[in-house]
Amino acid sequence: MYKIIKKTVLTPEIFAMDIYAPRVAKSAQPGQFVIVITDEKGERVPLTICDYDERRGTVQIVVQAMGKSTKDLFQLEEGFAIKDFVGPLGEPSEFIKMDIEELKDKKVLFVAGGVGSAPIYPQAKWFHDNGLSCDIILGAKNKDLITLEEKLFHVCDHLYVCTDDGSYGFHGMVTHYIDELIENQGKEYDHIVAIGPMIMMKFVALTAEKYGIPITVSLNPIMVDGTGMCGACRVTVDGETKFACVHGPEFDGSKVDFDEALKRQTQYREQEQLDNYEYREV
Ligand SMILES: Cc1cc2nc3c(=O)[nH]c(=O)nc-3n(C[C@H](O)[C@H](O)[C@H](O)COP(=O)(O)OP(=O)(O)OC[C@H]3O[C@@H](n4cnc5c(N)ncnc54)[C@H](O)[C@@H]3O)c2cc1C
Ligand code: FES
Repeated sequence: MYKIIKKTVLTPEIFAMDIYAPRVAKSAQPGQFVIVITDEKGERVPLTICDYDERRGTVQIVVQAMGKSTKDLFQLEEGFAIKDFVGPLGEPSEFIKMDIEELKDKKVLFVAGGVGSAPIYPQAKWFHDNGLSCDIILGAKNKDLITLEEKLFHVCDHLYVCTDDGSYGFHGMVTHYIDELIENQGKEYDHIVAIGPMIMMKFVALTAEKYGIPITVSLNPIMVDGTGMCGACRVTVDGETKFACVHGPEFDGSKVDFDEALKRQTQYREQEQLDNYEYREV
């Protein structure tokens, strides 16, 4: 069992939890994720490692309560324990493997959509801790869905916040803000890393293509085992089948078949809605 050391409610439907999991905390790297199982009857829920503290033995996850499993997790309070916390899974971010000197010459823009702020944070922090600079665009549908703003502010050169409805920051989507920075504010970038809803990553990839900027995305397809055995997280990248849980979750965004990925992501929608409905009825 894995004890919940701290729970912080960030917005009405998004919360952070620090979980005592020393072995995961010891080997976690930016870009990786865990699979959480709340209790005996719980589903396997993939969640990105947002932060980790090897000394305290804790790993932080940031979760949006979307459906039954994430709402079950939301019900748990500090001091409670969760059944399983498996990880770290997936490949670390590609930057971790690169030469720091080479990265010093790169201007990198991170683009976080919604709880995409959770996987962006450890990457930007890694940049900051290694003396590298980066900018971040943090976008969400509205002010209530903006998370980790303060944490992100401290690990980048410039943090740009935007909301689709204009309730906070720049009025527009993250793609509009990229256009604004490049076309009106004279910004230049060598690489974009976009993490958020699949549809957002598709359009950020198209925007990056428009400016000829290489793009990395972190895919979040349906995952089951998280170890490359079940095939649930199958995606097509550059015409080849990849399993996001072991070959990713990060891929070259210009080569991902987003339309197929979007279609596969909604294949269990009816069952998910039913579970959610039953959850409300209990
Ligand atoms: C690598 C990875 C990292 C992720 N990181 C985070 C994170 O840091 N924070 C966060 O809030 N969410 C994250 N997610 C999404 C999270 O796993 C889903 O929101 C969660 O599984 C939904 O389960 P549910 O029962 O609450 O909702 P459901 O009602 O079952 O599903 C809601 C939506 O979540 C997605 N989903 C459902 N089951 C899965 C599954 N087994 N695997 C992937 N997606 C699923 C589907 O798009 C679905 O439409 C991540 C997903 C992946 C694959
Ligand atoms: S989740 Fe089963 S192969 Fe990736």
